[in-house]
Amino acid sequence: MSSTKKILVIGSNGQIGTVLTNKLGEKFGFKNVIGSDLRPPENPTKFIFENCSVLDQNKLEKIIKQHNITDVYLLAAYLSAKGEKNIDKAWDLNMNGLLHVLNFAKDKKIQKIFWPSSIAVFGPSTPKNDAGQYAITEPTTIYGVSKLAGETLCHYYHKKFGIDIRSIRYPGLIGWESMPGGGTTDYAVDIFHEAIKHGEYTCFLAKERTLPMMYMNDAITATINIMDVPFDKIKIRTSYNLSSLHFSPKELEEEIRKHVCDFKIKYIPDERDELAQDWPQSIDDTYARRDWGWEPNFNLSQMVADIILNLKNRYKKELINGTVKNT
Ligand code: NAD
Ligand code: SER
Repeated sequence: MSSTKKILVIGSNGQIGTVLTNKLGEKFGFKNVIGSDLRPPENPTKFIFENCSVLDQNKLEKIIKQHNITDVYLLAAYLSAKGEKNIDKAWDLNMNGLLHVLNFAKDKKIQKIFWPSSIAVFGPSTPKNDAGQYAITEPTTIYGVSKLAGETLCHYYHKKFGIDIRSIRYPGLIGWESMPGGGTTDYAVDIFHEAIKHGEYTCFLAKERTLPMMYMNDAITATINIMDVPFDKIKIRTSYNLSSLHFSPKELEEEIRKHVCDFKIKYIPDERDELAQDWPQSIDDTYARRDWGWEPNFNLSQMVADIILNLKNRYKKELINGTVKNT
């Protein structure tokens, strides 16, 4: 497929990048999509790959120039749990990575940016249910603090320099194609692999810890859609609330048990449960629906059925041989 777009995905080996980069390749042509990350991907990719840190401004600029990049999807970040263990590094990567990309846009080296924020911008002073777009944001993690500062920076660069930056506050994302990289909501991915491979799982969140979540397919659709709509449709240049599901680990356990009937689970909450306690349980995304037509496709049971089907397929050989082992 021919395209006037040339896309760079920074952080293309991560949980979202792995899926998003391929979807962009299918939509815009693999020769028009460049992935970049700190190290090469484990499996061969159809898209072009460039080894680069987003903190290496000179190398990044060369890549942008060499490939005539128009659109950047900036996914490289320290997430909530990993960030709490690496406060300085999390601030450096999450803020300076964004600043580099915003400055490329300011200097007209690229045209459009996608940068995700998170429900972690909210904190204990935010309403627990249906947290609104303009609800109080008093985050309690360095991750949330950096996302909130990043949102403000995006808004500032848009107002001052007219930069076309588009952003979504993703909830916890769950998919089967890739593994998560250090978040509080990672349990909701791990649980599927362990249920299928071993029939049991130890959950690091409390059983009643309800959080806003979303199937990866819906998150990818939202990401591609928000980047596709005309400039004027985007009224919010901080970041849009986005919602589809909210459930507790116990509710997810019960849904998984419909497919893995002897599934056993233990709950041993750790420090990640304390981070999760400060986040809202559900999100109001009226503005995303109104401004650019956001609508999710998957409910909890559809998502669980789809993930289980795909993972059973992936582990088929090991399941038949009885040789599944931890990945
Ligand atoms: P991830 O940790 O799985 O992936 C991040 C990728 O960035 C990794 O492949 C890592 O190697 C790469 N990276 C790290 N440092 C880099 C650097 N200096 N230069 C280039 N690449 C570097 O994260 P993810 O879950 O894919 O999240 C992507 C984005 O979405 C992040 O901004 C995150 O805050 C946001 N987000 C994710 C979720 C979620 O549930 N996954 C929820 C809300 C927001
Ligand atoms: N899934 C992310 C995390 O847990 C939320 O931004 O860090």
